[in-house]
Amino acid sequence: MALEDGTYLYDAVTHRLNPVATGDLRFAAINPRQRATFRSTAPVQLIYVADLHRLTHTIGFKEPGLHDPEIQKSYYFVDCGMIGGNVYLVAAAQGLAAWFHNCDKATLTKSLALRPEQKVLFAQSVGWPAAAEAGK
Ligand SMILES: Cc1cc2nc3c(=O)[nH]c(=O)nc-3n(C[C@H](O)[C@H](O)[C@H](O)COP(=O)(O)O)c2cc1C
Repeated sequence: MALEDGTYLYDAVTHRLNPVATGDLRFAAINPRQRATFRSTAPVQLIYVADLHRLTHTIGFKEPGLHDPEIQKSYYFVDCGMIGGNVYLVAAAQGLAAWFHNCDKATLTKSLALRPEQKVLFAQSVGWPAAAEAGK
């Protein structure tokens, strides 16, 4: 999760955000092909990263396909889509706006010092609806 002050790794087990980088990386969560014409004011950027090590060393059922790159892709893209869908639902329930999009994978990989088996997939902006933003 990229915020103004830094980027945090969400630990689902402890439900905590652990700091991984300081500074504002939210610009890199926007599609680099759109950045020239569009400036995001969303306070929160969720950055979805697949960690292949978590698939090949699962604590769950050791499905042989989890070592096959194509099957790995199907798992992490489905996971990412499900999480993004849940974020859309929670955002709607809270009166927030959300937007699922491409991101600057090269910049994020470098800035977050990701390992080769950690793959940046997509990002999702979360913020206030445009009308609410205009009224502030
Ligand atoms: C995998 C995926 C990647 C997407 N990437 C982008 C993107 O980089 N830029 C963009 O404007 N929309 C992207 N979209 C589409 C947006 O999520 C959204 O559907 C679109 O902006 C229309 O939103 P609206 O229905 O609220 O107008 C992507 C959608 C998916 C499923």
